[in-house]
Amino acid sequence: GKTLKALQEKIRKDGIVLSDEVLKVDAFLNHQVDPVLMKQIGETFAGLFKQDGVTKILTLESSGISPALMTALELNVPMVFARKRKPFTQDADVYEASVHSFTKQTNHIISVSRAFLNQADRVLIVDDFLANGQAAEGLIDIIDQAGAELCGIGIVIEKAFQPGGKRLRDRGIRVESLASIRSLENGTVTFQEEAHA
Ligand code: G4P
Ligand code: NA
Ligand code: NA
Repeated sequence: GKTLKALQEKIRKDGIVLSDEVLKVDAFLNHQVDPVLMKQIGETFAGLFKQDGVTKILTLESSGISPALMTALELNVPMVFARKRKPFTQDADVYEASVHSFTKQTNHIISVSRAFLNQADRVLIVDDFLANGQAAEGLIDIIDQAGAELCGIGIVIEKAFQPGGKRLRDRGIRVESLASIRSLENGTVTFQEEAHA
């Protein structure tokens, strides 16, 4: 893994452990956004996937957009975010996938316009969190519908104690997490590995 030291430090300093399962990072990722850290995240993902001929970054609104945009800027390709709500006008020209949320016990439809993803694309998915992997599965479904190629998945914070990462890697998908959390028990963030640089 490519652990990002600045991200680990930010999580330790400004992350709030809400429970054994949930880490609040509203101070730099999910509400207020730290552009310097996002730029570093974008550079790191770009470096990891620079050999893969990526033509497009795909994420899901809203919190995936910041790291996805910085990655796209660095790789000089467009960033597309899947929408969670249906556009007001009924649009037949979209790919759709159903995403289940274990937290909210709901299903919602995500969609991407057919105009922005096609069989010539080589797609890197970027998202803020990886937990159960449902969002990533929905995005992969959309990439498959487009006939595009999935290059891999870049995740800012992986909760390694939840099953999404293993499930995706078991399918042979390259998943790169910049911070991988082993546990949030006792109100403490424990990382899978300590950063060196
Ligand atoms: P789930 O099955 O565990 O519920 O995960 P799911 O992928 O459905 O995630 C639901 C939402 O919760 C996602 O954001 C995801 O990024 C976020 N999430 C999952 N675990 C954590 C966590 O420990 N901390 C934080 N801060 N967020 C987490 P979303 O609903 O798509 O919202 P948005 O922030 O992208 O707008
Ligand atoms: Na997200
Ligand atoms: Na989120």
